[in-house]
Amino acid sequence: MEKGFLVTFEGGEGCGKSTQIRLFSDYLRSKKVDFVLTKEPGETEIGEQLREILLNSKSDISPITELFLMTADRSNHVEKVLKPALESGKVVVSDRYYHSCYVYQGTAGNIPLDKIKKVTEIAIDGVKPDLVILLDVSYDEGFGRKSRDEKLKNLDRFESKGRSYHEKVRQGYLDLAKEDKAFVVIDAADTVERVHQKIVDAFEKAYKKAEK
Ligand code: TYD
Repeated sequence: MEKGFLVTFEGGEGCGKSTQIRLFSDYLRSKKVDFVLTKEPGETEIGEQLREILLNSKSDISPITELFLMTADRSNHVEKVLKPALESGKVVVSDRYYHSCYVYQGTAGNIPLDKIKKVTEIAIDGVKPDLVILLDVSYDEGFGRKSRDEKLKNLDRFESKGRSYHEKVRQGYLDLAKEDKAFVVIDAADTVERVHQKIVDAFEKAYKKAEK
């Protein structure tokens, strides 16, 4: 393999992404795969500050400013984390990447996709995921989980946007998945074990293919 392998995890609120990323990391460790675990927004030092502004429910941010702040985080993430890890041949697991921006700022946030693609292109400089794991969850299931976990008290700026916004996020992801072969859509309402197994299967298939 010339370069590493980038797998991103995407999905709406309460889709179980954190649990599944933890299980997937355990799996990679058990297989002695050299991997890096990262996230957006907020992996780098500057990113942490941007994340604080972006998620703070007190921030009054215009939609285009939100797009630029997310993209600024992304650009630093690509240069400081993704590129070095991929160039040294590692597997990189990212909790969200630019497809989040396409659906949160685009489909749900109403910024035309062609505008988002222009700034994204500058930020990612050709670094695209080899595999996108989309954990698909309905609004009721996702927020139902959050309320079971009692996480509904301090909702961040995105979590508090309401049903219609989050339903658009979900549909936006499903539309992207139809057009992009890197996507694997997994029903996140299934059991934790079965979802994990499907993720491992998807990874093994895509990773083998990339090795050829
Ligand atoms: P986080 O706490 O990491 O949420 P989650 O556990 O749902 O991943 O917060 C990230 C939030 O930022 C999440 O609500 C999605 C949003 N987001 C965007 O709106 N655009 C983006 O480009 C990215 C990367 C994230």
